[in-house]
Amino acid sequence: MLISITDMQTLSITKPDDFHLHLRDGMALSNVVNHTTAQFSRAIIMPNLKPAVIDTKMALAYRHRILQCVDKNYNFEPLMTLYLTDNTTVDVITEAAESGYIKALKYYPVGATTNSAQGVTHIRKTYAVLEAMMKTGLPLLVHGEVTDDDVDIFDREAVFIDRVLTPLINDFPELKIVFEHITTGTAVDFVTHASTYIAATITPQHIALNRNDLFKGGLQPHHYCLPVLKAEADRLAVLTAATSGDPKFFLGTDSAPHARNAKEARCGCAGIYSAYNALGIYAEVFDKIGQLDKLAAFASRYGADYYGIPHNKEQITLIKKEQTIPATLPFGKETLVPFRGGGTCAWQLKK
Ligand code: DOR
Ligand code: ZN
Repeated sequence: MLISITDMQTLSITKPDDFHLHLRDGMALSNVVNHTTAQFSRAIIMPNLKPAVIDTKMALAYRHRILQCVDKNYNFEPLMTLYLTDNTTVDVITEAAESGYIKALKYYPVGATTNSAQGVTHIRKTYAVLEAMMKTGLPLLVHGEVTDDDVDIFDREAVFIDRVLTPLINDFPELKIVFEHITTGTAVDFVTHASTYIAATITPQHIALNRNDLFKGGLQPHHYCLPVLKAEADRLAVLTAATSGDPKFFLGTDSAPHARNAKEARCGCAGIYSAYNALGIYAEVFDKIGQLDKLAAFASRYGADYYGIPHNKEQITLIKKEQTIPATLPFGKETLVPFRGGGTCAWQLKK
C-alpha cells in the first residue's frame, strides 16, 4: 500500500523524488546534499554550475562528486542533466542518451536567472538538437520566462507561453517538455490542456507564499526567487494543480542555496533554499486545505511515471509536529538561511 494515514497526524508514503534541485559544488554541495537525501531517493540535478555542465563527461564527474558527499545511510540516485547552449551538438545528445545517466537537458533563456549567461539566445538555434532529443526521448526542462525588458516581470511566464512554448510545441509535438517551477494560473491552464508530452514541476514556495511575502514588514530577500512569487490567485491556481490528482503536475523543489551575504546584498541573488524541510512544507500546505491524501502521488509517483523510471521501494513517514527551522545553516565558509529560517513548520520528517 502506498499511502496509510493512521490518523491525520502521521503520513507514510513511498520515499519521494525531487524533480528540480540545485546542489552547487565543493563545500557547499557537501553542506546541502544530505538534507535532500534524508527526504528524497532521487533528484533531477540542475546543471547551472560555473562552468555549466554541458556534456556527459562533465555530468558524470559532477555525479561522482555528489555521490562522494552522500551520507552512507542513504541510497540516493542523482539524475543528471545537461545545460543546453547555442553550441550543443547532436553528438552531445547521442552520447548523453547512450550514457544512461543523463535524464534531460535544461533550457535557460540567456539572462533569465542564476548562471544563465551561457543560456540559449534563440530557441531556433537549438532545433537540430531538439529534433535529436525528440527521437531519443530525452526531456527538455524549461525555465519558462522571457527576459525582454519590455515585459513586466510578473508577466514573463505568460508571455513565454505565447512567444516561445506554443511555437516550440507546434514544431516538436512529441518532444517531452517539463515546464519547470510554474507560478501562474495561465501556466496551469496551459499544461492541463496540453498533450501528455507536457508536464510541470511545482515548488514549495510557489504554493506557500504570494508576492506580498516579498515585502511583508520590509524587503524579504530570502523570499526572492525566479520566477518571482505571484499574486494570491496564482498561488491558489498552482496549489489546486498540485492537489488535483492530475499526473502532469509533480514535485520539484527548485531548492537553490545561496550564501546569506549574497542574498542580503545590494543586488541580492535569486533562490530559496527549501531542501532543509521541503516535504514538511508541502505537507503543511496540502494539509491546510484538507488535501494531504494527494501528497503521495504528487511526491512519489507522477514524476517517476513521466520520466519512465520505477517507483522507489523505501518508505518515509511525516509527522504533524511543529518543528523550529534553524535561522542559519553552514554553507562552505559562509552561512545559508533556509526557507522559514528562524520560524516553524507544522510538519516534519520522522527521523
Ligand atoms: O530562484 C532561482 N534560483 N531560480 C532559478 O531559476 C535558478 C536558481 C538558482 O540556481 O539559484
Ligand atoms: Zn531551478
